Amino acid sequence: MKLQMKVTAFHMVDNLATGLYESEGQRVMELIRNSLVASMPTNKWEPKRAKIEVSLVPNHPLSPSKGVALVILDHGCGLTDPALERYFNWLGTPLAQLRQHQNGSYNGASQKGIGRLAALALNENCLHDDIMTRIKHGYYLLSRTSKSGEVRFVPVIPERAETEQGFETERFISPTSTEMGSLKNIPGSFTSIIIPTPIFQSHGEIYDAVKWLLPREQDKMFDLLIGGKTYGPPPLEMDINITSQDGRYRARLGVGNTESDGVWLCDDETGFRVASCQKLGRLLPDPLWYPDLVGDIFAPGLLRYQNTARSTLAKEFTRKGNKEWSKLLMFLISQVAPVSKQLIERDAIRGNAAETLDELAEMFNDRFGEPDGENISEGGTRKPRDPKPKEPTDGPKPSGGGEPTPAGDKYRRYISIRVHDEIYNLYRGQTLHPFVFAQVNPNNPKVIFTNVRGGYKALPETKQARREHCLMQVLAAIGKSKFPRDPNEATLFANKIRSEFLK
Ligand SMILES: Nc1ncnc2c1ncn2[C@@H]1O[C@H](COP(=O)(O)OP(=O)(O)O)[C@@H](O)[C@H]1O
Ligand SMILES: [Mg+2]
Repeated sequence: MKLQMKVTAFHMVDNLATGLYESEGQRVMELIRNSLVASMPTNKWEPKRAKIEVSLVPNHPLSPSKGVALVILDHGCGLTDPALERYFNWLGTPLAQLRQHQNGSYNGASQKGIGRLAALALNENCLHDDIMTRIKHGYYLLSRTSKSGEVRFVPVIPERAETEQGFETERFISPTSTEMGSLKNIPGSFTSIIIPTPIFQSHGEIYDAVKWLLPREQDKMFDLLIGGKTYGPPPLEMDINITSQDGRYRARLGVGNTESDGVWLCDDETGFRVASCQKLGRLLPDPLWYPDLVGDIFAPGLLRYQNTARSTLAKEFTRKGNKEWSKLLMFLISQVAPVSKQLIERDAIRGNAAETLDELAEMFNDRFGEPDGENISEGGTRKPRDPKPKEPTDGPKPSGGGEPTPAGDKYRRYISIRVHDEIYNLYRGQTLHPFVFAQVNPNNPKVIFTNVRGGYKALPETKQARREHCLMQVLAAIGKSKFPRDPNEATLFANKIRSEFLK
């Protein structure tokens, strides 16, 4: 007996929608990318053809008690027959498609075959504490492939995948019916995703969520309206502006603060950010993964090798022997890394704060022993010796890592310290808020940024006071790293470690 596996409501909501993406913006971008693809001619990337409208519509007839709905609208081809079959019959990429386009179509913008379900994760009720509530909510798909006439209307409610053996796709409504809401009498072909009880409260929030995920270069931007206003990506960094001879490799970099998100590898043709250099870590030459270097590096063919959660490159791309990867590395090593190094070393790391940090490192060594560099994994904990080469990781290299220090400069970018069994890397390259001395790296809890480039404005006068003050700042940050959701535990931890220095 052959049995067909079915997808469960729970799997749709929790694993394929909410669980998959790192940020709310990425969920919106899945829908926007679908809209883009539907607005372009087959397999050609022409973003200027697309007009995508995102809006929060009050009093929406499809929202419970006529509340707000999030409406994402494109004027593309609509859900054609093959698209309809793909949309409601398949999760993931069917074999036929895989044979045709190994790494997806539209430069990889359509590839994984699950992005549409990200819409579920934009409905607040699909994130409800109670699983039985989560699966009862979803979104509405409205679409038309002809210029005028009836509109296909499909409620996509995960529970129905199980209780009704699927989704009813053959219901059509009049373009003037109430359900159309703000789309009443819309001309032309279109697709719209309507999400009741959305997670966003304002248009500003939506833009903030997606702004860094939009095509980074203006000429690759499509017509995007959020709440009726046109938006584009934040400007590129320009301190470093290098373009390869053929124009396909481009680096646009600068020095940032903790708000910026490091350097990203972007897709040359679509301009989308594909992989965070902080995540790729040791696969890249220094200092491209340092958090204080920020900006974008464009290279051909990256989007089709993006991982499903949309934050790094698939391992098959970064393997040794892949020519495209080697070419990119060559560009980075020979042209980008040397000038980047100069750029972030512009402000020297010295002065009272830096000196105090050195003293602290010594105090930690005296109390808890020296961290031995060789056996530290990027997570910061000790690990058994491992003869295999290390996997790409989201962190810094082991202790003292970073670039060879310039002659006469004894300061390394990292100092590692031990706190009982754990190793933390104190990172000195970052400029923080003037009243923050130490802060956990949001991308790696074992890295503590410290503000020792001269910008810290609460440093005490005397050496002794500086030591005490900075010790507590570092311990507080480590406490927060260990107990991110429990400020009391974090403070208790910091003070407990402090007391151990008294013994
Ligand atoms: N806005 C849209 N307009 C037309 N077709 C769409 C739209 N959104 C999704 N589709 C169809 O649904 C399919 C599945 O979408 P998705 O789950 O995001 O997978 P993928 O984009 O990787 O193909 C798409 O390939 C496309 O055929
Ligand atoms: Mg998609």
